[in-house]
Amino acid sequence: MELEGKVILITGANSGIGKASAELLAEAGMKCLLTARDEKKLDRLTERLPGAKAVVGDMIDPALPQRLVDTALEKFGRLDAVFNNAGVMNIGSIEEADLEALCSMVRLNFEAVVRMSYVALRHMKPQGNGFLINTSSLAGLKTFPHLGAYNGTKFAVEALTDALRMELAGSGVKVAVVEPGRTNTHLFDHWTEDQKFDPAQGMLEPEDVARCVRFILEQPEQVLIPRLLVVPARQPR
Ligand SMILES: NC(=O)c1ccc[n+]([C@@H]2O[C@H](COP(=O)([O-])OP(=O)(O)OC[C@H]3O[C@@H](n4cnc5c(N)ncnc54)[C@H](OP(=O)(O)O)[C@@H]3O)[C@@H](O)[C@H]2O)c1
Repeated sequence: MELEGKVILITGANSGIGKASAELLAEAGMKCLLTARDEKKLDRLTERLPGAKAVVGDMIDPALPQRLVDTALEKFGRLDAVFNNAGVMNIGSIEEADLEALCSMVRLNFEAVVRMSYVALRHMKPQGNGFLINTSSLAGLKTFPHLGAYNGTKFAVEALTDALRMELAGSGVKVAVVEPGRTNTHLFDHWTEDQKFDPAQGMLEPEDVARCVRFILEQPEQVLIPRLLVVPARQPR
């Protein structure tokens, strides 16, 4: 996809991978429609990025995906790509995990991804072009103790995305996942000290993942990278 002048919707745009992707793609000439919950943060980012617009909202709200597509069409007259990235990571042992937090994570990390994917693709398929990138994880490919529910959401994102990719093959619409390993974002801010990763094992910066998102988007028409796994070079497993 030629990025200049194209419109991308980015969920989870307020920090980490979403924010870094918004900055990189805006620099590449894309017009960004940004969404997240914290209005002040979103306004600060939107003001810095040329041509960007913001919609404040919670992705768990079933009405938000359609509102986002409608806003893109109203403000920009088109929607070329969606980076479906908002997510949280709640973990814990069987004894200690917060069950309500796990189930709320399932709604955001999977149900909201399903809703946003279908709403976006119902717009893109009839127009005969478009790009959907969902955010999975290394944890969407392999399991880890204490991460069962998070693993489940990301395995589910992998399955959903791959099935949609095949369904849309030849339609002009491309569907892919980006699969980051540990990345230095706010995802782990609420973790206890003993849950945190060993910093000696390295972390990606959000900008490293943003470059992968751009790389997926920028392939020529006949090429699709359906999955892109990116991990810190020092991560042992
Ligand atoms: N960091 C990693 O190591 C890593 C690795 C693999 C995959 N991932 C995935 O990458 C994605 C982005 O995470 P990140 O690492 O960049 O974390 P982050 O810095 O915590 O960013 C998460 C973003 O999602 C937004 N958000 C959270 N809950 C939301 C909700 N209910 N509705 C709408 N927006 C919501 C947050 O903004 P507000 O709070 O303002 O809403 C924020 O912009 C997630 O899907 C995560 O699972 C991360």
